[in-house]
Amino acid sequence: GKDKELIRGSWESLGKNKVPHGVIMFSRLFELDPALLSLFHYSTNCGSTQDCLSSPEFLDHVTKVMLVIDAAVSHLDDLHSLEDFLLNLGRKHQAVGVHTQSFAVVGESLLYMLQCSLGQAYTAPLRQAWLNMYSIVVAAMSRGWAK
Ligand code: HEM
Repeated sequence: GKDKELIRGSWESLGKNKVPHGVIMFSRLFELDPALLSLFHYSTNCGSTQDCLSSPEFLDHVTKVMLVIDAAVSHLDDLHSLEDFLLNLGRKHQAVGVHTQSFAVVGESLLYMLQCSLGQAYTAPLRQAWLNMYSIVVAAMSRGWAK
């Protein structure tokens, strides 16, 4: 449908430049919730936002996040096929101390990145299409917190 076209069309160019777009997203995330910085325990100092954003391990995580989004975009017709993967991904995030409530601010940061990158192409229906996909991904990851 229309949602899928909007998502695929907007990801086409963004997905080719994953790291810079992911860095915009995580810069925004740390602006909105600086406490999340302390969850990244990398050998490189993640004491300040700037240290963290430039550390190789952190940039690897940014790439990992963007690859999950990429996988979701390419599986829009069968998102349920990612359920086991996303549940396990949720478990790993529970283990590193992430709370499911933080996914709301991650979502806001994703939308912020889309808005910055897409400019005029960032419309209300596009925003809603991304929110719909993101909420499916978050719901699947959140199952990793259940007992
Ligand atoms: C792994 C933190 C959000 C995808 C990790 C790790 C940490 C972490 C500390 C383990 C170290 C590493 O692999 O770099 C966080 C925090 C988040 C967040 C604080 C936001 C609150 C996300 C999101 C996604 C994601 C939204 C994708 C939708 C991944 C992947 C891994 C990972 C794919 C590797 C898992 C594996 O080793 O199999 N995350 N993460 N993360 N994260 Fe995140």
